[in-house]
Amino acid sequence: MRLSLRFILPLLIALAAIAYGVVPMVDGLTLRWSTRDLDSRSSMIATTLQDPLAELIEKGNREKIFLYFDKITQDERLFALGYCPAGPGGLIATRTFPASLNCESLAAGRHPQAKLLTSVSGLLHVSSKEVLIGGRSAGWLILVHDMSFVQRRSEETRRYVFYFFIGMGAIVSLITVIIAQLSWRGWNHGMRALLRGEGLVRPMERFVQPELRPLARDLRTLINEIESEHRTRDVSMVTWTPDSLRRILHEELKGDDVIVVSNREPYIHVSKDGRLEVHRPASGLVTALEPVMRACSGVWIAHGSGSGDQEAVDAQDRVAVPPENPAYQLRRVWLTKEEEAGYYYGFSNEGLWPLCHIAHVRPTFRTRDWEHYVAVNRKFAEVVKEEAKTDDPIVLVQDYHFALLPRMIRELLPRATVISFWHIPWPNSEAISICPWRMELLDGMLGSSILGFHTQSHCNNFLDTVDRLLEARVDREALTVTYRREPSSIHRYPISIAWPPPEEIHCDPVPACRAKIRRRYHLAEDQRVGIGVDRLDYTKGILERFKAVERLLEAEPSWIGRFTFLQIAAPSRSSIEQYQDFELRVRALEGRINARFGKGDWLPILLKIEHYEPEAVHEHYRAAEFCYVSSLHDGMNLVAKEFVASRNDERGVLILSQFAGASRELPEALIVNPYDIDQCAAAMHLALTMPQAEQRARMRLMRGLIQEFNVYRWAGKMLLDAAHMRMRGRLTQYKGDIPGEAPPSGEVIP
Ligand code: G6P
Repeated sequence: MRLSLRFILPLLIALAAIAYGVVPMVDGLTLRWSTRDLDSRSSMIATTLQDPLAELIEKGNREKIFLYFDKITQDERLFALGYCPAGPGGLIATRTFPASLNCESLAAGRHPQAKLLTSVSGLLHVSSKEVLIGGRSAGWLILVHDMSFVQRRSEETRRYVFYFFIGMGAIVSLITVIIAQLSWRGWNHGMRALLRGEGLVRPMERFVQPELRPLARDLRTLINEIESEHRTRDVSMVTWTPDSLRRILHEELKGDDVIVVSNREPYIHVSKDGRLEVHRPASGLVTALEPVMRACSGVWIAHGSGSGDQEAVDAQDRVAVPPENPAYQLRRVWLTKEEEAGYYYGFSNEGLWPLCHIAHVRPTFRTRDWEHYVAVNRKFAEVVKEEAKTDDPIVLVQDYHFALLPRMIRELLPRATVISFWHIPWPNSEAISICPWRMELLDGMLGSSILGFHTQSHCNNFLDTVDRLLEARVDREALTVTYRREPSSIHRYPISIAWPPPEEIHCDPVPACRAKIRRRYHLAEDQRVGIGVDRLDYTKGILERFKAVERLLEAEPSWIGRFTFLQIAAPSRSSIEQYQDFELRVRALEGRINARFGKGDWLPILLKIEHYEPEAVHEHYRAAEFCYVSSLHDGMNLVAKEFVASRNDERGVLILSQFAGASRELPEALIVNPYDIDQCAAAMHLALTMPQAEQRARMRLMRGLIQEFNVYRWAGKMLLDAAHMRMRGRLTQYKGDIPGEAPPSGEVIP
């Protein structure tokens, strides 16, 4: 109803205004037309009276003239008649002749034009006509018409106009209400259909900018997932928690063995001045998996890269972590300097990393690096076998460092369930074709039972690549690839963080964090702060980000002195030349912008190239007005989610690159193209001036999503899929035992 009133009220006001203007116009018109009628009528009567009157005048009989006039004025409209003789004798007129008219007054106005007169009897029309006898003037005939009928007509017209506008208002209002209700219902249905992923979705896609269509598609999938989960999930699992994971492990997986393999370890022991310090690395992978392992209590196999790592482990190269409250085992694998250089720095980070990220840095592939990559993957496969307590463990293989590992595990433990997760983007098949060992990589990855990516477009790119390069059956409906007679299921599992964020427990409230960070960097209390938190990596768009800060200060000089951008950049892969060059370029740009705009103690950019522990990062998030994630290409980017999770005050704005996987889940962030410097500067200005209510509304939606789609759900979903797969596998085995039942159909073997 409110919606209808919004249309009807202005409409009625407009109609009333039109009616108000139309009525006097109609009055005037009626009067003009009626006067014109009477003019011609008077002239007609005067012509008719001319001859009989002339005769009576010649006879000089005033009485007869009077009687004659009296008879003629029986006509209801002709109100009075009079005759003013040319010579002496005075006015001869009917009794109704207005007293205000006499021959003297009329003499002044004797002309053929009529005039209007208001008398006690109402409005009168007075006209005169010269009486000619033998071509000479014998006086003037005066005709007076009653015009009260014009007033009556005018009133009637006014009434009609009034009713007309009332009727029109009612009809137009009715039509408006019907159309408004229909459109509302249509829109409503459309939205519901969209949320259900039905009909309207396709037409709507036409209106979405082409480059944002994948984003819209992923959002729709996300909505579908939420809906289907709400339908199927039992009430106790409204939000996924460590307990939900434990329940899956015990109920669905019957307490089966869980082994995680990654290159980066979750805890690094560093020996410093004869003492061991524990560091937690800057790695999205670690951020996500660590809480999962705390809940699952399995074994995490990783490269022991810390200077104190050897010292911290037992005879089996294991150490129980987290150090303060051990919940799982960390099994360290030792690599020689050459192995690390070839497998980690070389093939993984100079080859695969730039290959998979479209960040305009050329990948480098060397045979020597490849050989180390193969050898290290094999080394880890052996360790997996060693750590497996049963012959069918669940192994979670992480990232591009271990593309060959799934196949190798399968060879050593054929009954294992291997879930691989590729934490970085998977580019299109042309890009992958650059790698000389692309076939081996695909073969290795397809040793996985389940292969996960962050977004649907990465899954699609992978399916296209397999379709193009391998002889395998690709089923795009079921999202499976059957290769070497073995099916791998290719799925999208958007990674996330723990909810509530563990750092929240010991963290100060937001106002205290704000004050603390401002004190720490000697900033004024009311100084506005934007923050960036990344590894110092060329894929993160740090140069573009600084340029956007520069553009902001050019376009909105009022921020000079009042705003500081704080960039935390954790040193990363620093023995690689491209990373060293990148650091130099970042420092140079920061120096140039600070020299250009810096005033006294104030600098627009504070660059901190150093490692911060998660609690310190959390404090920084809480102190900032906005967080800017400007990745040029990124699998997911967990900084975006960490920032949102840290803001339990529901304040702060997230500016997020459209090229980070996180943009598919957080459309309430200010989504930008990090290459479009003007747009990013405008987004920063918008973030700094965004009203609190809007900040809160956006934050609430994003926090709701992260709470629901947390990392326990990410792991839980994969484990549930693995459990179903294992169950199906067992059933197929029984089927295979029945005589006449064939095993799953054979595929083309390359
Ligand atoms: C990305 C990769 C992770 C890696 C992290 C840190 O997030 O996907 O596998 O751990 O970067 O990089 P680093 O080379 O220091 O482990």
